[in-house]
Amino acid sequence: MGQGRVTLAASLIAGLIFWQGATAAPTAPPISYGVDADTFHPVKEQHGMVASVDALATQAGVDVLKRGGNAVDAAIAVGYALAVTHPQAGNLGGGGFMLIRTASGHATAIDFREMAPIKASRDMFLDAQGNADGKKSLTSHLASGVPGTVAGFALANKEYGTLPLAQLIAPAIRLAEKGIVVNEALADDLKVYGKEVLITHPNSKAVFYKADGQPYARGEKLVQHNLARSLRLIATQGPDAFYKGEIASEIAAEMAANGGLIGKADLANYKAVERKPISGTYRGYEVFSMPPPSSGGIHIVEILNILENFDLAKMGFGSADAMQVMAEAEKHAYADRSEYLGDPDFVKVPWQALTSKAYAKSLAQQIDVNKALPSTEIKPGKLAPYESNQTTHFSVVDKQGNAVAVTYTLNTYFGSGIVAGKSGILLNNEMDDFSAKPGTPNIYGLVGGEANAVQPYKRPLSSMSPTIVAKDGKTWLVTGSPGGSRIITTVLQMVVNSIDFGMNVAEATNAPRFHHQWLPDQLRVEKGFSPDTLKLLEAKGQHVKVLPAMGSTQSIMIGPDGTLYGASDPRSVDDLTAGY
Ligand code: DON
Repeated sequence: MGQGRVTLAASLIAGLIFWQGATAAPTAPPISYGVDADTFHPVKEQHGMVASVDALATQAGVDVLKRGGNAVDAAIAVGYALAVTHPQAGNLGGGGFMLIRTASGHATAIDFREMAPIKASRDMFLDAQGNADGKKSLTSHLASGVPGTVAGFALANKEYGTLPLAQLIAPAIRLAEKGIVVNEALADDLKVYGKEVLITHPNSKAVFYKADGQPYARGEKLVQHNLARSLRLIATQGPDAFYKGEIASEIAAEMAANGGLIGKADLANYKAVERKPISGTYRGYEVFSMPPPSSGGIHIVEILNILENFDLAKMGFGSADAMQVMAEAEKHAYADRSEYLGDPDFVKVPWQALTSKAYAKSLAQQIDVNKALPSTEIKPGKLAPYESNQTTHFSVVDKQGNAVAVTYTLNTYFGSGIVAGKSGILLNNEMDDFSAKPGTPNIYGLVGGEANAVQPYKRPLSSMSPTIVAKDGKTWLVTGSPGGSRIITTVLQMVVNSIDFGMNVAEATNAPRFHHQWLPDQLRVEKGFSPDTLKLLEAKGQHVKVLPAMGSTQSIMIGPDGTLYGASDPRSVDDLTAGY
């Protein structure tokens, strides 16, 4: 461990022996469910609801719910539709996580995170000087892990769905074949990121650029014939079309011809895995979230456990004290992330210790509401080189009360930017989520070590955190977000805003956000906080920086009478929460 930081076990013991503080009783105002007093109003429906980043994908999900499909069926339809309508992150060539909580209270997690190919090796992303080479891990054919989305949706469908997979893929086929009208979000992202990643690959250029050499613009029609054909193959032959059949051949050939590593055996060996969610409690609510290879669940529960030792409600939303306590808790959690987290099939992740109330008390004891602990005193590290991002989250609740939260991604915008051969499928650049070199930050400024080093068939550590909160045994909040390293703190704020600050789901979504990830030692805040608050935070020793918006939550809250309240994030354009 680095200077000034005690080991997990030692802190735990210290906390048990020395902690004197009492758990603060919450003094949160009650949430009002959609009355005149609300400053922002959620979408309100009775039977079923979908919240996603894209209106056409939301509609595909709502149609499945109306036809009698359950939340898992609808989520799969949304996921396939997003692969067509939101290629910035929606995908067949990426991976992610699905968290399910059934109406009967069974919570389970489906891990369809990408996996390193068999030929991957520890130092594959280092240059001749031994430095991490971001180009290799982000935009080359080496950047892709073996995709998991098709396997994940097939597993979810088999275990928890009710409708045939082909019916759930049908809307996506239609959208790819008939074409979509390019919306503002896609047009803007193609303009900005297309020239960084898509334009240099002829297969990708053929999909997203017109004959005049310009990317598709808002209002123009984008038809994706090759993608439609791949979707049809999966609909008729099942996931084997992707992992063993024609699409597998296309991906393997693309790799072989361009120095990539993914071969047919890698694809044939890929498996989605059902895992037990990470769970915890927060002021009487139950919290379920994603286990490793995501770090999200562990650190959301760890931070909530720390925060339980402070009366945030009394401090108040946006107060310097509440922000200080949350930022300090976040620093500790992100420091732990860099040390302990990795693929649980390869490293032993001490999740019980990290999510224990006793450990959280020991960390809470180190938090001074008046004085920030410099990150260097927690553990040394380096600053992020640059940033960029794109992932997507969607939430679904059906009329029985089954709830599904899915976060999936290609990693950065349009992934590696490489469409595999004639498949029409964009490939991820998730290998960048491995720690290319201990202590060297990845694109999100996250540092890692041995636990997250590249190894064949290992899954890179993620921050994606589909999360479900239950109250009195019933699902209450379904949420999640993109945002790289900021996913954890964005989801955390959805929970804290709702529970501690009594916000309805729209208010909790719209409230300005902030984030501390330990390294860099910077309290990142969105615009919208009072300058007085920021000055007070500086005086406490926080290094405050106002930076662009964080996250794009897509959330559903279930009221006491079963009414569904949903909110898409105003930080995104073209997203939609709808239901019936
Ligand atoms: O798995 C992860 O943590 C990242 N690949 C997620 C990337 C992301 O959220 C980009 N988003 N905005």
